[in-house]
Amino acid sequence: MSADLPSIRVLAIAGSLRKGSLNKALVRVAIQVAPPGVIVEEFMELGAIPLFNEDIEKQPPEAVRALKARVAAADALLIATPEYNNSIPGVLKNAIDWASRPYGDNSFEDKPVAIMGAGASLGGVRAQLSLRQVFVYLDMHALNKPQVLVANAKTRVDASGEFSDPAIRDSVRQLLVALDVWTRRLKNR
Ligand SMILES: Cc1cc2nc3c(=O)[nH]c(=O)nc-3n(C[C@H](O)[C@H](O)[C@H](O)COP(=O)(O)O)c2cc1C
Repeated sequence: MSADLPSIRVLAIAGSLRKGSLNKALVRVAIQVAPPGVIVEEFMELGAIPLFNEDIEKQPPEAVRALKARVAAADALLIATPEYNNSIPGVLKNAIDWASRPYGDNSFEDKPVAIMGAGASLGGVRAQLSLRQVFVYLDMHALNKPQVLVANAKTRVDASGEFSDPAIRDSVRQLLVALDVWTRRLKNR
């Protein structure tokens, strides 16, 4: 990034409410390893988002208004998704559904987005593919590569539940470097 360009703001959302979430740990890595010119801020209020109800989508609850405002203010999104039953966790999909509504006020439209994930076995590859499909409908610009899939993630955190493995940290840093380039390219089109 050239020194005279303003930083990009990336809103990171981990799709898990679990205190010891591996995906929250991955977001903490992103905050720590973000390259110069990239500011990663975590959305920590996912648990306050109620279940979606189309009857009230035009007068959404305060927690949803706050989410939509945070998404609108971000230059790009970073999603850390677990895999639940081969797909996206309900809490994450629910928040996405809220922020995409009402029709004509999709907060995600035209936003660049990068995906990463930590999970059991394969690291959530099927959840990432499901999420990409959702992002097509939302008219987002999903970064293709690098792919960040932390497989067998439980065995890869240290005693304090953090990812200190340099290989994992570097893969997240590379994702943010690519997201930075992608976001600036889309801004300049
Ligand atoms: C309801 C449920 C369904 C799950 N389904 C899958 C799955 O389909 N594939 C997989 O690899 N892991 C699956 N897991 C394991 C999660 O990947 C693992 O619990 C992961 O650590 C969750 O993310 P978190 O640590 O950020 O909460 C499932 C876990 C739960 C609770």
